[in-house]
Amino acid sequence: MATQEKTPVENAQLKDIISHAKEYGFIFPSSEIYDGLQAVYDYGQMGVELKNNIKNLWWKSMTQLNQNVVGLDAAIFMHPLVWKASGHVDSFNDPMIDNKDSKKRYRADVMIEEKAAQYENEGDVERAKALTAEMGRLLEAEDLNGVRELIIREDIKCPVSGTANWTEVRQFNLMFSTQVGSVAEDASTIYLRPETAQGIFVNFLNVQKTGRMKVPFGIAQIGKAFRNEIVARQFIFRMREFEQMEMQFFVRPGTEMEWYEKWRDTRRKWHEAIGVPTDKLRFHDHDKLAHYANAALDIEFEFPFGFKEVEGIHSRTDFDLTQHQELSRKKLQYFDNDLNEEGKPYGNYVPYVIETSVGADRLFLMVLCSAYTEEEITEGDSTKSRTFLKLHPALAPVKAAILPLTKKDGLPEKATEIFDSLKYDFNMIYEERDSIGKRYTRQDLIGTPFCIAVDHQTLEDNTVTVRDRDTREQVRMPISELHSYINKAVSYRSIFEQLA
Ligand code: GAP
Repeated sequence: MATQEKTPVENAQLKDIISHAKEYGFIFPSSEIYDGLQAVYDYGQMGVELKNNIKNLWWKSMTQLNQNVVGLDAAIFMHPLVWKASGHVDSFNDPMIDNKDSKKRYRADVMIEEKAAQYENEGDVERAKALTAEMGRLLEAEDLNGVRELIIREDIKCPVSGTANWTEVRQFNLMFSTQVGSVAEDASTIYLRPETAQGIFVNFLNVQKTGRMKVPFGIAQIGKAFRNEIVARQFIFRMREFEQMEMQFFVRPGTEMEWYEKWRDTRRKWHEAIGVPTDKLRFHDHDKLAHYANAALDIEFEFPFGFKEVEGIHSRTDFDLTQHQELSRKKLQYFDNDLNEEGKPYGNYVPYVIETSVGADRLFLMVLCSAYTEEEITEGDSTKSRTFLKLHPALAPVKAAILPLTKKDGLPEKATEIFDSLKYDFNMIYEERDSIGKRYTRQDLIGTPFCIAVDHQTLEDNTVTVRDRDTREQVRMPISELHSYINKAVSYRSIFEQLA
């Protein structure tokens, strides 16, 4: 995939988002007190809520909205032959090159793509295309010497040492391996799964038979995946430990393109329904298809560092099931009764598969980037700026903040009563420290859609003011209406209706 890095100025916005994420408890570098671990991150108190909401929404969109999609939670460790069958042992590689002076390691293909992007930016589109095409040919032919010569011919230098003193290009497998077994001799090498999809393939018949599923049907799964990414950049965009949300949809051979188009459109609508602006999303058809695919595209989002893949939609044919059938020597076929009803001969077949595969962390970054808003507010003669997270209320970590105007006169007691009556259904915050203005600002920064202020009038007539995060407008309403008011905004219903 082409990585077109933007200039430092354009990247400034990503810097703001990274520091916002840290300052307000969304994302922390892993093991930070030991100076962190590259490309590994932890989700803080706000981050875990937002991420859980994203995962929960995806899960329900798949399994609750579709009668023919069910869930699965397979283990991270799998039999080593799984990864032989899937092709990961032999070909899940990145071509890497080291600079002998700086001792830094780079992805050879990414360096060439960056050079091509440079030509394109300079207006030499033809040269850019020719370079990308030549690299494609060399990689296809596994001509790693040719790739190195291309890097030298293009005078690509190490950004750290400034020299072109390169080693050979070598293929590095991206899978992490570890040992199972108590003593070294008994130990056997297994892998941390690099994708969740294989857990679905090996359970295909278990689910089909026990769930009495009829093709077409899907199996959805959310879980950790691990890749030894050498070029780990752009915050949580490319991590070594990340979460995938994948759905494999099993179809009758010959019908796969119809389903590919359906899932492509449904998934794009989903991204729009959670509040991502349409003009920030685009499809990118794969120029070069993987050996197992007969169609594939990425749904890309315009991050501060350019349009990049968020989700892949792949038509994977019967490749994976056939491979597992061969290596395990177990039949992974489906007996299709309906064929006979349609006047066609009965048949066992290996279903074709349409895959939707999205990274929960990359989706998190997309949601954060599209929610991060800075605006100028003019009041009378003065102008001030405000930063807030315009998150879809269904995704917001905290749905409402209950704020007594003062700490006395019975207001905290009344506010606590309101908090207690709503806490069973919504994640909320109760806060009485600092001025009401400062408290509103704190809630804006974490994206809380509603601030409920409890004042002296509340004690008289059981009404409160509800401040809207995006418009800053306040409405007065009876306490008895709060539940349905919040519920309408935060429920998944409005999102689901857009997918119908
Ligand atoms: N089963 C197909 C598959 O794994 P992929 O394009 O390699 O396809 C699917 O990955 C999605 O997983 C990507 O679109 C991205 O959202 C996410 N992803 C992949 N590698 C990642 C990484 N190193 N860090 C974070 N997310 C990643």
